[in-house]
Amino acid sequence: MLDKSLKLLKYLPPELAHTITIQTLKYLKFNFDKTDENNLAQHILGLDFPNPIGLAAGFDKNAEVIKSMFTLGFGFVEIGTVTPNPQKGNSKPRIFRLDEDLGVINSLGFNNKGSKKVKKNLLKLKNNLLQNKIIGINLGKNRSSINSIDDYLSGMETLGDLSSYIAINISSPNTQGLRDLQLRGNIENLIKKIIKKREEIESINRKPILIKISPDLNEDQLRDIALIALANNIDGLILTNTTTNRPDYLLSKNKIFKGGLSGKPLFSISNEILRKMYNLTNGQIILIGVGGIESGSDCYEKIKSGASLIQLYTALTYNGPSLISKIKNELSDLIKTDGYKSITEVIGKSV
Ligand SMILES: Cc1cc2nc3c(=O)[nH]c(=O)nc-3n(C[C@H](O)[C@H](O)[C@H](O)COP(=O)(O)O)c2cc1C
Repeated sequence: MLDKSLKLLKYLPPELAHTITIQTLKYLKFNFDKTDENNLAQHILGLDFPNPIGLAAGFDKNAEVIKSMFTLGFGFVEIGTVTPNPQKGNSKPRIFRLDEDLGVINSLGFNNKGSKKVKKNLLKLKNNLLQNKIIGINLGKNRSSINSIDDYLSGMETLGDLSSYIAINISSPNTQGLRDLQLRGNIENLIKKIIKKREEIESINRKPILIKISPDLNEDQLRDIALIALANNIDGLILTNTTTNRPDYLLSKNKIFKGGLSGKPLFSISNEILRKMYNLTNGQIILIGVGGIESGSDCYEKIKSGASLIQLYTALTYNGPSLISKIKNELSDLIKTDGYKSITEVIGKSV
């Protein structure tokens, strides 16, 4: 029923459809009873993941529908991107469907209600229902901020202790200059300050820190990031954000719009980055694979390419919420069929 009504939303402009989805999900009846297959469970990053499927950042920017997303079956939910101050983002329209390609282009530019409001929303959820749930908080910088690094540190101060892990987003293409933070000197400086801040604040001392990067980096840039992440004990990397590239095979006329491309066309692009990063880090850092996942076998491929966990967003808008249970069943079956006991044995198998 929910699936059918949410599918009808494709006839509305995409941003309006998203707003209606969020409003609808707020009133979903909660039911966390379903347990996942044992072969999907993992203890990594100091956390117990019941299954490896996470909601990618951008869907629940303001922590408004976390409970509903767990009801749909996600093993973890990443909220955000959250900036210190509220901001409206870029001018509309700024989300475009590429129906023929099963993709989306967005140029939102971190529209969000700011870290204080998000903190309030998270505090409201602090009841028994969410006690064992894994919630990542994805942090960004305000468009107008003068010192970008201070924005990430401020996000850690305001929201860090309410998170299970902290994701540092330096890869969205819609905030000018943001992706430059991925370059050698900049990322080293950023990471050192973030790690220092974590040491300073006792309540976030043990929280894992993950960096989310772009699929549009070259080999040298990937190597730099791998070395810096290893040298500074970064817990994980999230691979990848959306791409500003437009593969030749795109069919939709909407491919002309500016912004970050997600969904099916991003699948092989982000997988390549994942495989390279798994090699560059010798499998020593947890990798979260994200980009174009729409089935259990897509997840399986990401995991074989080096991901310990995966996330998705765009396929949810094309397939509806029943996608998550379907993916989990398919993935669990694939693991069994290939003779593995657990997902852990599959990680990096094809690299
Ligand atoms: C409409 C939209 C908004 C997004 N907003 C964010 C965001 O705020 N922060 C972020 O790190 N990634 C954001 N993303 C990127 C996703 O988290 C994800 O990395 C990307 O879409 C690839 O996954 P997918 O192909 O499953 O959608 C956004 C994606 C979409 C489609």
